[in-house]
Amino acid sequence: MTTYITTPIYYVNAQPHLGHAYTTIVADTYSRFRRLCGENVRFQTGTDEHGDKIVEAAEKENVPPGEYVDKISKMFRDTWPLLEVAPDNYIRTTDVQHIATVRDILQKVYDSGDIYFDEYTGLYCRGCERFLTEKELVDGNCPDHQIPPQEIAEQNYFFRMSSYQQQLIDHIRNNPDFITPERYRNEVLSFLSEPLEDLCISRPKSRLTWGIELPFDDNFVTYVWFDALINYLTGLGFPEGDDYNTFWPFSEHVIAKDILKPHAIYWPTMLMSMGVPLYKKLHVHGYWNVDDTKMSKSIGNVVRPRQLVDEYGIDTLRYFVLREMSFGLDSSFSSDAIVTRQNADLANDLGNLYSRTMAMVLKYQGGIISGPGTPEVEDEAFREAVELMIPGYREAMADFCFHRALQIVWDIISMANKYIVVNEPWALAKDPENAERLDTVLYNLLECLRIVSLVLQPIMPIASTRMAVGLGLTADSEEARFFDAGGRWGVLVPGSRVRPGGPLFPRLEGRKKDKDKKKKSDGSGMKKAEKIEQSEEDLVSFDVFQKLDLRVAEIVAAKPVKKSSKLLKLTVKAPEMRTIVSGIAEYYQPSELVGQQVVIVANLKPVKIMGVVSQGMILTAGEKIDGKERLVLSTVSDIVAVGSRIG
Ligand code: ME8
Repeated sequence: MTTYITTPIYYVNAQPHLGHAYTTIVADTYSRFRRLCGENVRFQTGTDEHGDKIVEAAEKENVPPGEYVDKISKMFRDTWPLLEVAPDNYIRTTDVQHIATVRDILQKVYDSGDIYFDEYTGLYCRGCERFLTEKELVDGNCPDHQIPPQEIAEQNYFFRMSSYQQQLIDHIRNNPDFITPERYRNEVLSFLSEPLEDLCISRPKSRLTWGIELPFDDNFVTYVWFDALINYLTGLGFPEGDDYNTFWPFSEHVIAKDILKPHAIYWPTMLMSMGVPLYKKLHVHGYWNVDDTKMSKSIGNVVRPRQLVDEYGIDTLRYFVLREMSFGLDSSFSSDAIVTRQNADLANDLGNLYSRTMAMVLKYQGGIISGPGTPEVEDEAFREAVELMIPGYREAMADFCFHRALQIVWDIISMANKYIVVNEPWALAKDPENAERLDTVLYNLLECLRIVSLVLQPIMPIASTRMAVGLGLTADSEEARFFDAGGRWGVLVPGSRVRPGGPLFPRLEGRKKDKDKKKKSDGSGMKKAEKIEQSEEDLVSFDVFQKLDLRVAEIVAAKPVKKSSKLLKLTVKAPEMRTIVSGIAEYYQPSELVGQQVVIVANLKPVKIMGVVSQGMILTAGEKIDGKERLVLSTVSDIVAVGSRIG
């Protein structure tokens, strides 16, 4: 099987933002998914560099258009590796080969009689770079740019788009997947229910020189859309070359709803006239707003990919946009939403499953993966659920329903977390008679994590690779890269060793707000309230400090303390078992604590708190955000033997 996936080529009149990042992450995710399925994949993105808008932007910066487009095109190109986006080809419409092919195509279409010269008076929107019909206007304005179009009368060349109207309608009707989701297919069919006008495909040089000169009239340059759409072919070396023959029959374009008409109407009719088979699919997504407001430079709410990666990390950004947006519908970005997803889905659900499982394999089995033992009915059910997830996930990914695919994966993650609670590996570990049962439970958890890491590969390539390596696989092994080798149960080899590394995802709560606060403080990066004035008598000697017995402990059980909303009763191992009462109930669920390594003061005098004797103290870091206290557990950066001394 083969796949050719493309993004729009972006105008270089503006720098990359969240919207561009989303489309490109979608195309990258889809290409990685198809590779996981063992397919031959080509993924292309690039920049659209001719036309009015670009000249205007270059003029604003006071540089020649050539210099300007080189600069912004490079900016787009340099952005994609920051998001782990890895295109196979990056095309620019100023590439010599692209220009030559566009001219060849124009000449052929002209020779075939599908291009004619005529006078036209119309309403032209500079923002859209096209003539608008009266019907499209809202209160006399262009609906996208909210400005009235200019009435322009001039002689131009026209493409006989109208001759292909019926052929296009038939194609869309006969191929239900040609334009998806369905609402956009319906929108196009509804547009086509009215007579289609011919397309003006030239601009007189008196008005615009920054474009591809028409091969049959050097007084004109090519209309930017007739030039830009052809990139999908020139990027394959059309009309010659193996890449064109190999990939074009499997071409799929990803766009947002703003450029539906050029892709669903101009492009297929151009292909019909050229005698080239139509692309296979058009995938249309909705718009990203920011805090429920349209993203715009004038409002100052444009979100830049680089800033998002710095703030939240690559995997979190990729996960968030794919999980949050239902493909086809609009969605709103906010820092609160991304922080919530990071903490709930990534740090809690997935991160804890991974670290708890690893911690138990290290502790109970010395880090060596044991055999699956003899599975019981509930183990078979768990395994079946995990295996069943794969077809549902594959179908959703193939249909561009990324949010649904991720829901399926998270159902499995929460099932695995429940499997831990039900099977209580820490209780099994107490009795050597249960050793085989413990092996089975831990093996199943590791296998589940391995399959989760495989299906997350297209979405979160970095975390997925870390998980695979943590589970003892090599990053480029067949098992970590292909469904054929890794998409079945029982791949982990008993006797191999886990290599967990640190936590997969940090908790992000309040991080952004803290940063804002730091900026507002005295410039030292430290909040005023945190500055501690220390006099001589506040200092302690090293001897006094050494008297403190600080140790690494593992939480093995956690329960609320009766009649208290703040306290949890924790059973910890350090290495002897002890009970510690801690005031962290407002910040942690008991279930997310079990398996975590923490730092305790082991030689505090026992005290009775709410009827429970507390034998020590768990260290936490406290901070105030907007006057509200927040506590996080103090922990160690890698898993160590419980009872290890800290000093
Ligand atoms: O239209 N939400 O380029 P362009 C989601 N050069 N996606 C968004 C978005 C938003 N708020 N804003 C932009 C052009 N996009 C032409 C294309 S193709 C032959 C020529 C994404 O720079 C989305 O993919 O205006 C949209 O279709 C594209 O950027 C428009 O990019």
